[in-house]
Amino acid sequence: MFLAIVVITFAIFVSALPNRASEAQHFTRLDDIAASYDYVIIGGGTSGLTVADRLTEDGKFTVLVVEYGYFEDAVNPYEFNTKGIPSSMTFNITSVGSKKVSLGIGCCVGGSSAVNAMAFMRGTSEDYDRWDTLGGVSSRQWNWEHLLPYFRKSATFNPPTAEFAQDFPVEYDIQKAWGGQGPIQASWPTFQYPAINIMHDAWKTLPGVEFPKDGSEGKAGIVWIPMSVNPEDETRSYARTGHYETVKSRTNYALLTGHKVDKIEFTSGGTLITADSVLISPRSGDGPTVKVTANKEIILAAGAIHSPQVLQRSGVGPRDLLDSANIPVVLDLPGVGQNFHDHSYLTMEYKYLTNVFPYPEAVRSNATFANWTAEVWAKNKTGPYSVVGSNLMAQLGLPIIAPDEYKSIASDLEDLDPASLLPSNTDPTVIAGYAAQLKAMAAAARSNNTAWLQYGLRGVARMNVNNMHPLSRGSVNINISSPESEPVVDYRALTNPIDVRIEVLLLKAIRNYFASEGEIQKLTPVEVTPGPDFASDADLTRYVQDTVTPTQYHPVGTCSKMPLKLGGVVDENLRVHGIWRLRIVDASIIPLIVGATLQSTVYAVAEKAADLIRQNA
Ligand SMILES: Cc1cc2nc3c(=O)[nH]c(=O)nc-3n(C[C@H](O)[C@H](O)[C@H](O)COP(=O)(O)OP(=O)(O)OC[C@H]3O[C@@H](n4cnc5c(N)ncnc54)[C@H](O)[C@@H]3O)c2cc1C
Ligand SMILES: *[C@@H]1O[C@H](CO)[C@@H](O)[C@H](O)[C@H]1NC(C)=O
Ligand SMILES: *[C@@H]1O[C@H](CO)[C@@H](O)[C@H](O)[C@H]1NC(C)=O
Ligand SMILES: *[C@@H]1O[C@H](CO)[C@@H](O)[C@H](O)[C@H]1NC(C)=O
Ligand SMILES: *[C@@H]1O[C@H](CO)[C@@H](O)[C@H](O)[C@H]1NC(C)=O
Ligand SMILES: *[C@@H]1O[C@H](CO)[C@@H](O)[C@H](O)[C@H]1NC(C)=O
Ligand SMILES: *[C@@H]1O[C@H](CO)[C@@H](O)[C@H](O)[C@H]1NC(C)=O
Repeated sequence: MFLAIVVITFAIFVSALPNRASEAQHFTRLDDIAASYDYVIIGGGTSGLTVADRLTEDGKFTVLVVEYGYFEDAVNPYEFNTKGIPSSMTFNITSVGSKKVSLGIGCCVGGSSAVNAMAFMRGTSEDYDRWDTLGGVSSRQWNWEHLLPYFRKSATFNPPTAEFAQDFPVEYDIQKAWGGQGPIQASWPTFQYPAINIMHDAWKTLPGVEFPKDGSEGKAGIVWIPMSVNPEDETRSYARTGHYETVKSRTNYALLTGHKVDKIEFTSGGTLITADSVLISPRSGDGPTVKVTANKEIILAAGAIHSPQVLQRSGVGPRDLLDSANIPVVLDLPGVGQNFHDHSYLTMEYKYLTNVFPYPEAVRSNATFANWTAEVWAKNKTGPYSVVGSNLMAQLGLPIIAPDEYKSIASDLEDLDPASLLPSNTDPTVIAGYAAQLKAMAAAARSNNTAWLQYGLRGVARMNVNNMHPLSRGSVNINISSPESEPVVDYRALTNPIDVRIEVLLLKAIRNYFASEGEIQKLTPVEVTPGPDFASDADLTRYVQDTVTPTQYHPVGTCSKMPLKLGGVVDENLRVHGIWRLRIVDASIIPLIVGATLQSTVYAVAEKAADLIRQNA
């Protein structure tokens, strides 16, 4: 009887919407989904869709992905350059505390991979090796060597054109860094502003700066990095195109959009807490909440801002916080929402008195060039509109940029009292985790292969100076007076005093670069911002304190992969400590941020997570 109804309903659905037959597994109403699936994935973003794709591959399991956002038009390089990201595609969250910024994270099918700037790069080997060390004695599987196969698997490398490789000193090493045939396309634009060559060569005069052959081989230096763009049609390559569109006809892959997972529900028998089901409600607010059961596992992939919120709302988090919000405690897990960090940046602007044509301003000042720019894009999808951000980065360690100061930075880091740098009610395990991180970062401060500075080289004089390893730690907690509304995001920017000192060193490193003799002087660079009024260290300190932006839209750390005694939330298999059948697979599990933009790392983590999940299937 029940089966017959299902069959009839399906037949009506198909005949009413014949052209949508291949999208039969896309649901927009709770009435249409099943009562249970093998896996329920919370969040259809970068990591969620990657895991859903891999778990549905062999047809053995049913998967439901619940995504709060909708399908939105893709923001390809041209649209990104000319119109930017529509506000309909992002959450609208502003942080609290001394630095109030808008978070800009993605809210649509594809998540943040649908709105990001498409830079596709990896951290250095040390960045990942630290994740392994923090995992404790049992960890031997999260270092660079063990993640490299997943980096390879996640993407396909498309070499630059011969013309590009001739005009610009790009090199690559497929054997060392790539070689997979994954669905995310890494490719190159066909254009750069020619001053990039001068900016590239100018680093050669600074001692110790390396030029690794492939920018993705895990080494710091002056590195070339591709973009997540499909080279066939110059469109964005992201989780939706790579891990949904091409495989959505699989009848075991269901996607529910416009719906939110409010809570995870648990069953407990004895000391064992088991994740059992999720409560889902429509974004529109119309209609009741529905419970869907996971036969095998629940997988949290709501990103570093919302994964801790879902856990805390479900009663898993710091006891004091849950008590103050009147949420019954399922498990007191102090690390949920803590250890929050991101990359930060400072604005620095130069102008070139001697420029090399064409330069970016020419699109506005020279009608002939503007016309050419529009025309090569329209005819061929080449030219300046094919470039978003920088394909060449200076990624440099403290011993290279601050040879006289890095040792004192490192030893002062070792002398800090971690407890004094966190809020007074912080759990001792979270303090212990922070202490372990500061110790690891003190070693990193003495290493050439942890890139603290990131400076994009685009042949453009105005670029941000990026701090890739901020040491201050904030939090993402539920709003205790209304846990269902957006979480309270506090970066606690610059609360670690070493961050201020390092930011000053980063500014001075860029000053030093533009003041170097030889190559860079061909452009006659002149500093505009912060400018000559900010000459002394005290001036620059003030500039840092007044102007630092604590995010590059790369939130991490709020459900860290670390042991319980270090305030960790998930174990080495990405299972939530103390809970059965619940894993986290998104950027929140990253215990220490890597010195690179994040997406390729998130794809690699998700690929590995899918393998770990299948091992227990
Ligand atoms: C503006 C911007 C620019 C960036 N630029 C770059 C770049 O150039 N290069 C780079 O490498 N990285 C960049 N990044 C970072 C990178 O894109 C992210 O780190 C990565 O995509 C995060 O993946 P994720 O799976 O953790 O989260 P997301 O991809 O954000 O996925 C989380 C998903 O969960 C959904 N969700 C949240 N809560 C719920 C709930 N309760 N129920 C149901 N669904 C829910 C969200 O709508 C979202 O779709 C950028 C990010 C942003 C925001
Ligand atoms: C953010 O604001 C925009 C513009 O008002 C809106 O379209 C969008 O739905 C909002 N995002 C969320 C997640 O509410
Ligand atoms: C780091 O680089 C500096 C400058 O080139 C060099 O003197 C030093 O030996 C390097 N350190 C290591 C550990 O390679
Ligand atoms: C304007 O652009 C054209 C070609 O795009 C170039 O030949 C010309 O030199 C430019 N003019 C100036 C003043 O830069
Ligand atoms: C470029 O200029 C030509 C001649 O003036 C004009 O016909 C053409 O429409 C312009 N192209 C663009 C893309 O503006
Ligand atoms: C179109 O792109 C190809 C590949 O980059 C390039 O070789 C060719 O010169 C371009 N043609 C025009 C008209 O720009
Ligand atoms: C918390 O929720 C209350 C009630 O909805 C709201 O007034 C307040 O602004 C929220 N606080 C933050 C920091 O968002």
